[in-house]
Amino acid sequence: MRVLIIGATSAIAHETAKCFAGDGADLFLVARNAEKLQAIADDLKVRGARSVQTYVLDLAELERHEEMLNAAIEALQGLDRLLIAHGTLGNQRKSELSVEETLKELNNNLMSVISLLTLSANYFEQQKRGCIAVISSVAGDRGRQSNYVYGAAKGGLTVFLQGLRNRLSKSHVSVVTVKPGFVDTPMTTALKKGLLFASPQSVGAGIYQAMKTGKDVVYLPWFWRPIMFVVRSTPERIFKRLSL
Ligand SMILES: NC(=O)c1ccc[n+]([C@@H]2O[C@H](COP(=O)([O-])OP(=O)(O)OC[C@H]3O[C@@H](n4cnc5c(N)ncnc54)[C@H](OP(=O)(O)O)[C@@H]3O)[C@@H](O)[C@H]2O)c1
Repeated sequence: MRVLIIGATSAIAHETAKCFAGDGADLFLVARNAEKLQAIADDLKVRGARSVQTYVLDLAELERHEEMLNAAIEALQGLDRLLIAHGTLGNQRKSELSVEETLKELNNNLMSVISLLTLSANYFEQQKRGCIAVISSVAGDRGRQSNYVYGAAKGGLTVFLQGLRNRLSKSHVSVVTVKPGFVDTPMTTALKKGLLFASPQSVGAGIYQAMKTGKDVVYLPWFWRPIMFVVRSTPERIFKRLSL
């Protein structure tokens, strides 16, 4: 099993990678922080990965994506599964005050992922098998005042993945949209933790299972599916009065 993990220093992605390592997979890991990346690569080798290779890249540099994907496919001698995990929560208030900040967040969370998907989809389509999984978010299911820039990026991503799944299903390639709720990772250190928070271990393992079985859309943990059904179903005239 040859697996490319983009945004491999993410706490959630690391947990998914541990599952693949346990299967003895060949891993190619991409992240921008070389030191963190090396520590994760070392950990995954100890956990049983057959091989682990690393590539340092700031994914906001879209023009370098093609070179990285080619390097991964060459190093792995093919590609069976791809997980795209990188993202930034950003600062909603800062985005409201600055177009530059808003576009930076959209570039990191949406445009960069669309770039990676556009390039990799053609590879998988020709190969006629494989799995692409992307971490979107429940935040993309409905815009809220507290994080609608991030939510717009994830919502755009969710729609892009719907279309891509529709296209690639004809080529027997599965496209998995992962929608976690709150997860206790470095991304949420500033947030007050409550009952709805899940561990990166459980979410990472859920992604691994979803990739293995070729699921379409997974809410992690599962209870976010009914929660988001209610959130999406609330009429706008009521929703706009809430401070969410
Ligand atoms: N935690 C949650 O509650 C939650 C909920 C729903 C969805 N998600 C999504 O889950 C995914 C993983 O997040 P996480 O919770 O595991 O948080 P995390 O541990 O903070 O991981 C985010 C990762 O994205 C990387 N990253 C961000 N921008 C990058 C760039 N331009 N180039 C390369 N790497 C970049 C970060 O690298 P550095 O370490 O170098 O900064 C970090 O490794 C994200 O897509 C996030 O939006 C998280």
